Order: sequence, then C-alpha cells, then structure tokens
Amino acid sequence: MALSGKKTVEDVDLNGKTVLMRVDYNVPFHPGTTEISDDSRIRASIPTIKYLLERKCRLVICSHIGRPKGRVVEEMRMEPTSRRLSELLSKKVAQAEDCMGPGVEDAVKALAPGEVLVLENLRYHPGEEANDPDFAKSLASLAELYVDDAFGTAHRAHASTEGVTRYLPSVAGLLMARELAMLGDALDNPLRPFAAILGGAKVSDKIAVLENLAGRVDTLIVGGGMAATFLKAQGLNVGDSLVEDDRLEFASDLIETAKETALGLLLPTDVVIADEFSEKANHETVRVSDIPQGWRVMDIGPETAAAYAEALMQSKTVIWNGPMGVFEWEPYAQGTIRLAKTLASLDATTVVGGGSTAEAVQSLGLAERMTHVSTGGGASLEFMEGRELPGVAALMDRD
Ligand code: 3PG
Repeated sequence: MALSGKKTVEDVDLNGKTVLMRVDYNVPFHPGTTEISDDSRIRASIPTIKYLLERKCRLVICSHIGRPKGRVVEEMRMEPTSRRLSELLSKKVAQAEDCMGPGVEDAVKALAPGEVLVLENLRYHPGEEANDPDFAKSLASLAELYVDDAFGTAHRAHASTEGVTRYLPSVAGLLMARELAMLGDALDNPLRPFAAILGGAKVSDKIAVLENLAGRVDTLIVGGGMAATFLKAQGLNVGDSLVEDDRLEFASDLIETAKETALGLLLPTDVVIADEFSEKANHETVRVSDIPQGWRVMDIGPETAAAYAEALMQSKTVIWNGPMGVFEWEPYAQGTIRLAKTLASLDATTVVGGGSTAEAVQSLGLAERMTHVSTGGGASLEFMEGRELPGVAALMDRD
C-alpha cells in the first residue's frame, strides 16, 4: 500500500480551516480508574496537532475509547484524554459533551483559530461502528477538511474513519503518514538480510502474516505460545500447551517450504515450561523434546533466545509482531527481554508492531531505541498481512 499515493496535511491548504481530525486515543487505564497508564497514542498525535495549530486551524478532534456498543459508558469518556492532551500541548483543550447535536455545533462555531475541541466518545452512538451515512454526515458538517491520524483504527470501516471521507476532502496526518511509510518500506523495500519475529498466543491470529512474510523475509523467527503448534508439527510432545490442531498442517507446510527454499525458519530448541498457567506456577527450562505431560510452554528458553539474537545480529531490517512468552509475568519474560534488547542494539531498521509487542518494548524503556514502534495493534497486523486498510484507502489520492 503506497502512501505516496495518498495526500497528507502537507499537500493541502490548511490556513484557518476548521479541521475534523480523527485520532486513536483508545488508551489503556490503570484497572478500575480513569488514570491513563500509557499515553503513547496521545503523544504520537502531537506533531500533527501542532502542525495544524501553527496554520491557525480550528481543530475538532474525535476518537473512540473501548467498545461501549452504542451507549454511554461512564468509564469510557474522552475527558482524561483531553486533559492529558492539554498538559502535553500546554494549552486549553475544550471537551464537548457529545459528538453531535446543537451543543457540539455551537462549541465548534465558538472556536477561535488555533483552538482545540475534543468530541465525546464516537462509539456512544451506534452510527459510528455501523458506518451510518447520517452519522458520518453529521461529523463532516462540523468541518471543512478531514485529517486522519488514527492509524490504530484504520482497519475499521467506521463512520469516522471511512464514511466521513465521502463528505469532506480527506488527507492523512503526519502520524498516519509515518506509520504507512515505516511499515510499508520495511515490507516492500527492506535492506537485507530481512528478518521477521512472530510471536503471540495463537497461530491462527498470525497465519495471514506468516503467509505474507514467508515469501519476503530471509529469516522467520517463531516464538510465543504459537510455537507449540510448530513443535507438535515436528512430531514433538508439547504437554498441555495450547495447540491448534487445525493449524498443524499449515505449520508442517511452512516447515517443508523452509527446507525447500532459502527461507531460514527458526523454531525454539529449548523452552520455559510451567505446571499451570500462572505467574506463581512451578517452572523450569527444558529441551523441546522433553516437555512432560501436565506442563505447558510459557517462554522460549535461553539457548533459543541466544540463537535468535545471533540471527538478528546479521539483519538490516527487522519486523517484530508478538511477544516470545507471557512477558507480563516475570518468570516468562526473559525471551522477550532478550530480543527487545537485541533489537535496541542493532544497526538496522527495526519496526515493532503495536499492541502487546509495543507494550513490552515500552515497559522495558526501549521504545526510543527502535526505528519505529507502531501505534496500531490490529491495524499493524492487517497491514503486515498485506491487506488494504479501509481508513487509508478512503483518503484522497495524490494527483
Ligand atoms: C485498537 O486499540 O486496536 C484500536 O483502537 C481499535 O480498537 P477496536 O479493536 O475496538 O476497533
């Protein structure tokens, strides 16, 4: 998906315009509170916001938080995000009580050039996810130009990501542009050797990515819970590990493809296992051929992590999607930590997919040392699958 084909804020006249800007402020909160636990998505939107404010735009920002399913859920209000945005910009940010209706229209009319209004959670209205044309029209009626900086939501064809583009000139924001350029370049024009690291719980979640990447990369590194299905496909006993039996054939085929082609497929040779799925479980490191009944794979082992790190040292481009183990629990975090540190030390282009992989890299304080950490979880996964994202496809083409 070539970004060069899409217009961005740099391609249009912005001066003094009222702009509807879609962001992805679907941020995590500390459990049971409305205290933001990770503000990266808000920070990532700042360059576009400043760019628009410097050009005296009146800025109407919209987003969803969570999945309130068309009704008001108090814990999913936008206010904590508009407050954080105000702190980051060091300027007043107004918070609207809804995202449509006369009150919102008046609040938009009251904006002076360079002022910011954040609309209430779009998903409080069923029209958002239904991509209802009337809801999209009502959003569009607030502005003269639509700027999409919500890469994290670009895989959703909703009213605020796709519908609205039918009624307003629509361009990408700077974050959207950067995400598409970084992910697109890594996939389409990688410096070689090119390695992909894929982890996470399930093979089924990653099949399309594995298929898309297998033909592009030099080295494919597999870890996380999904490695168990590959181990079983090699004829090994994986104890009580989660195995997707309906994906065994896919895993065997990939192993065969690697044997017949130049693809380097790296699978674990040792693993950390536990006798139950718990942070406090008994755990130990064993060879992949020695996983007893009643135990399950929780992380790659140190020998595997060292072999993966060595393969990565040769790489000039690395894409990473999915942790190597249950990294949220300390006993099973070492594989993910080892690979994150390796990537941070490389003289290479390193692109980290969003969601739990981004969370892992951020919690280790290594995000700044990667070339790019995506703000999109599902969106970066679909992008890596080679799929067209509706929120991107809908933006205006360059002439
Ligand atoms: C995300 O966090 O991946 C995006 O905000 C999209 O959220 P959704 O999966 O609820 O559509």
